[in-house]
Amino acid sequence: MSKKKGLHIALVSLHGLIRGENLELGRDEDTGGQTRYVVELARALAERPDVRRVDLITRQVVDDRISKDYAQLEEKIADKAYIVRIPFGPKRYLSKSKLWPYMEMFVDQCLNYFKKNRRVPDIIHGHYADAGYGGGQLSRLLGIPFVFTGHSLGRIKRERLEASGASLEKMEKQYCLSQRIEAEEYALETCSLICTSTHQEVREQYERYEHYVPERMEVIPPGVDLSSFRPPSEEDQESDLEKDVKSFLQEPDKPMIVAMARPDERKNLEMLVRTYGESPQLQRAANLVLIMGNRDDLRDMPSGQRKVITNVLTLIDIYDLYGKVAYPKHHKSSDVPCLYRAITRSRGVFVNAAMTEPFGLTLLEAAASGAPIVATNDGGPSDIISNCQNGALVDPFDPKAIEKALMHAILEPDQWNEWSRNGLENVYTHYSWERHVERYLRDINEVLQNFDHAPKFAHGRKSRWLPDIDRLIISDIDNTLTGDDQGMKEFFELITHAEEHVGFGIATGRRYEDVLELMEEMGIPHPEVLITSVGTEIYYGKNFTRDKSWEKHIQFRWEPEKIREVMDSIEGVYPQEEEQQSTYKISYGIDFRKSPSLPRIRRILREHGIRVNVIASLNMFLDIIPTRAGAGNAIRHLSYKWDLPLEHILVAGDSGNDEGMLAGNTLGVVVGNYSRELERLRKYPRVYFAQAEHARGITEGIEYYDFLGTINIPNEKVTDSDG
Ligand code: GLC
Ligand code: MG
Repeated sequence: MSKKKGLHIALVSLHGLIRGENLELGRDEDTGGQTRYVVELARALAERPDVRRVDLITRQVVDDRISKDYAQLEEKIADKAYIVRIPFGPKRYLSKSKLWPYMEMFVDQCLNYFKKNRRVPDIIHGHYADAGYGGGQLSRLLGIPFVFTGHSLGRIKRERLEASGASLEKMEKQYCLSQRIEAEEYALETCSLICTSTHQEVREQYERYEHYVPERMEVIPPGVDLSSFRPPSEEDQESDLEKDVKSFLQEPDKPMIVAMARPDERKNLEMLVRTYGESPQLQRAANLVLIMGNRDDLRDMPSGQRKVITNVLTLIDIYDLYGKVAYPKHHKSSDVPCLYRAITRSRGVFVNAAMTEPFGLTLLEAAASGAPIVATNDGGPSDIISNCQNGALVDPFDPKAIEKALMHAILEPDQWNEWSRNGLENVYTHYSWERHVERYLRDINEVLQNFDHAPKFAHGRKSRWLPDIDRLIISDIDNTLTGDDQGMKEFFELITHAEEHVGFGIATGRRYEDVLELMEEMGIPHPEVLITSVGTEIYYGKNFTRDKSWEKHIQFRWEPEKIREVMDSIEGVYPQEEEQQSTYKISYGIDFRKSPSLPRIRRILREHGIRVNVIASLNMFLDIIPTRAGAGNAIRHLSYKWDLPLEHILVAGDSGNDEGMLAGNTLGVVVGNYSRELERLRKYPRVYFAQAEHARGITEGIEYYDFLGTINIPNEKVTDSDG
């Protein structure tokens, strides 16, 4: 698509707090691993010569309680890499489950940003369900490929919560799980590629989704910044943490078995102490070191953590492990790399026996420090060990297996050497950012190559790419386009041969399905914009992507049941056939000789508390649509969304249901054969009444405004009104 050199990639990650420096990781549950990952990915991608620009798109937050950094619209984080903050919804900081009502707003704002700044990316990569939904829509609207990373998935969360006995209703309220799962399905359906970190993620998580397609899954181990980790050297100084550890131990020079994890039941620390306590050989061979976060007063800890620590301390006492186990109360995170080196120096082992382990960053840190590992046979570790060949996998519920693996690592020097060496060698090959980005770009390029960028050819006209369009001709069908076959043919020729930046659209009272049939029948070229059912539905592009934000916007106060009930009681109106009705349009035939007048019908509806748009056409049709809907409003909506000024939209029509779009700041053309109800538009400066009838009238209007040339805009502004 892009003629420029190098790829322009947009990463979308909407929740949490994202900035270039001093990430507030762990500030809340929305600002954690994903945040760090996307920032590092953006930077690593920007390093590559084959990448032109990386935009990390997130939400703008303006809130006194948080730093002003998150209010900047654009932040440069590296040469060629930017954080772009899009305002949507309330300005204040919101947790991720509160963002759902504003997602359509995000799509419109972001599209507008792309178009306004002429910065349409070549590919969009959405992270997590929210950006999966928003990014997915953007990619469909723009006709560019989409990549998705779930990070974690709603169905898994639901199952886990269900298993814990939580109430479904409460879960829904707190986490908006069905919305999240639906968004994930949408993202999976839309994307050309799904990036995951481990094979297990593919097997056990994505497989549960309806739109799971195994061929689209790609396991790309994440890049990890391992620059603080290295094997021990002669010059190493002993850190405070090491001194502290040694003060617990009678024989501090023995090999160390180190576990490092939050005091969380799932980390299985108690099992480790029990295994060690039950094994005199293990106690003879090595010391056990437990780094369980930081704690002040045990009694003030959250109950889950307190329970784990208390159990560990109790087990140490029961097995009388004093002098053999170290469990420091505090440590600085900057001391952690030294502790890994101490494991290697002592010819010890790093162990992670968590009940489940989706990834296992600590295992990579240990590998980069030269320490062999023993880890749970689960997602992350099983990939790590198969990639790095630096240790053994164990069943975390089998103490004998854990004991055996630890003994093996400590007592077999050749094995220890091999594992240590393999880890050091392989961790960088598989988990460095360079490697990650290399594989990532290889996959992305493949996606771009296979993506169908070709424009659609329909009835001789090549469809235009929406972001390229700078002006748009929108016409009604019945009696505007149709009625004079030769005139219509000439009009189609005009738009077929017009330049690439001239778009074509249709706005009609007919239903979508109806229009598609008619387009075939009458040889109408494929429009870039299609507005159907009297401005209640909008579709874009070669695949006719439905405008979801429009749908959401017009739902306001729409009560079809109530409308039908009231209309049933009115004389002289008759429901049109079922095929003419649609979700947001209720249509009648009307006989004005028998029915009340139009203002009177409007009043009756109002008196029943119904707020709608009532539109009469050709003296025989009556359409009722939501108060916010109508072709005029639909055009204003798309004008904003695609950053196309109203003055660059020419609209042509013949009857009442076209009035809304003719009366605004667009350039209007009323064809010569118009219906009486449009007579009142004569006073509008931006409505041109053509002499010629039907399609020839449109062509006359195009010439009148010099619409394919410099565009002459009549001066006075008018106020908009619809219906
Ligand atoms: C089209 C539609 C009809 C509508 C009329 C006026 O003919 O099929 O349902 O009432 O336009 O908008
Ligand atoms: Mg018409």
